[in-house]
Amino acid sequence: MEKNTSVPEDLTARLLLENKAWSEGILSQSPEFFHNLAKEQHPKFLWIGCSDSRVPAETVVNAKPGEIFVHRNIANQVITTDFNCLSVLQYAVAVLKVEHIIVCGHYGCGGIQAALSCENSGLMIANKWLLHIKDIYRLHQEELESLPSDQRNDRMIEFNVIEQVNNLAHTSMIQTEWRERNGPTLHGWVYGLENGLLKEIITIDQHSPMDRIYRFIN
Ligand code: CO
Repeated sequence: MEKNTSVPEDLTARLLLENKAWSEGILSQSPEFFHNLAKEQHPKFLWIGCSDSRVPAETVVNAKPGEIFVHRNIANQVITTDFNCLSVLQYAVAVLKVEHIIVCGHYGCGGIQAALSCENSGLMIANKWLLHIKDIYRLHQEELESLPSDQRNDRMIEFNVIEQVNNLAHTSMIQTEWRERNGPTLHGWVYGLENGLLKEIITIDQHSPMDRIYRFIN
């Protein structure tokens, strides 16, 4: 490949070297690992997480390649006009038939913090993405503003995860799966940057109550 000498290559060269060592390490333990995995995937989980570099899906649950289907965006949102997230969701539930969907937020989320602040005029696209979170704040404003300020962000992060899990439940894709099979179960978790631990916030399935206005007929 032609080299662009203006781009320092040591950082990416390190990644390529690490990749080689990682691949060799796996092959030394399990010579057929990649060969077998290349044939097909059967992940049981869809993970919808934040893009934050400190919350890598597979790493924090010690999963191997092939175990988790992943979608990540700023502040782990499920926005029902976002075709990126919805196409991942559709493939995960209709084709892969995942058994569990995990929406994973994290304490100290910069996306949530930005949404609870005044908008930065230099980030017009990100502002639009985060506008949905301001709406969640408005929904829980009374409770949030009654909390000490150091607890407000953490509670907001939990409310956001709950809202995103509910957004999943309100899609026709999930309700169709619930009618046809015993799943998937929807989970909302929050990851602690300070301790590396996941906390369960909400779990819902086809038996959970849902407001009539969100139900699809048939
Ligand atoms: Co985040």
